[in-house]
Amino acid sequence: ADSSLPPSHKERNEEKQRWVAMSSATGPVVDAEYVAEIERARRDLRALIASKSCAPIMLRLAWHDAGTYDKNTNTGGPDGSIRFPEELRHAANAGLKIAVDLLEPIKQKHPKITYADLYQLAGVVAVEVTGGPTIDFVPGRRDSSVAIEEGRLPDAKQGASHLREVFYRMGLTDKDIVALSGGHTLGKARPDRSGFDGAWTKDPLKFDNSYFVELLKGDSNGLLKLPTDKVLVEDTDFRRFVELYAKVKQN
Ligand code: HEM
Repeated sequence: ADSSLPPSHKERNEEKQRWVAMSSATGPVVDAEYVAEIERARRDLRALIASKSCAPIMLRLAWHDAGTYDKNTNTGGPDGSIRFPEELRHAANAGLKIAVDLLEPIKQKHPKITYADLYQLAGVVAVEVTGGPTIDFVPGRRDSSVAIEEGRLPDAKQGASHLREVFYRMGLTDKDIVALSGGHTLGKARPDRSGFDGAWTKDPLKFDNSYFVELLKGDSNGLLKLPTDKVLVEDTDFRRFVELYAKVKQN
């Protein structure tokens, strides 16, 4: 068709059909009612996370659902696939069934909200209730009907090249790798889950920049540092971001 001409009625209709087909293939219909339901779920999440002090595992759940993304094949990512027992059995996901089970009553109460949106919203609320920034939440994620294959999440025992391989696959940068690793400001590792033991910061329920401050102090402080945390100060390209984030003023 001549693109200088306005679209005909038939063309407009075809365009609309394509849009309808696409939206049902790509996600829930995000109308005013869906947004209102998100706000109601947000309130329930705040109450749940406060009463169970489970912000860290909620953030880890959101990250492990999202962190399987591959930009080249457009597969994985925050699609709720982590709810499937097969995916929960992946070594990297040890312990995350607890988070999935804690969120199931909220899913049942707000069935319209996709698992994909609910898990990311739980991560957003976890950061917020622990004193972190308010994160703009954009709804509309579609649920996958299958688990993703194992092996897409980073392995804590490996080094800088592995971290880059995994995060570049998601379309992320060195700066993103360092910033996101700051998620370890919350929570701790458990011997029965990952085999590691301990927290990265003195207050694992407070979201601040202390992860970066402690990282620069080295091993002396008795706090946990995974091999993949240590490379952030050993690799010069990573280190400049650690230094930048360690300096951010706290109020
Ligand atoms: C850079 C690569 C990463 C590696 C290798 C890694 C590895 C780990 C490991 C081994 C644990 C301990 C799990 C356990 O024993 O229960 C853990 C916990 C945790 N991770 Fe990561 N992680 C990475 C990045 C991230 C990112 C990007 C986030 C979020 C932005 C994040 C958030 C968390 C949180 C909040 C916990 C604590 C969970 C709890 O207390 O239950 N991690 N991570």
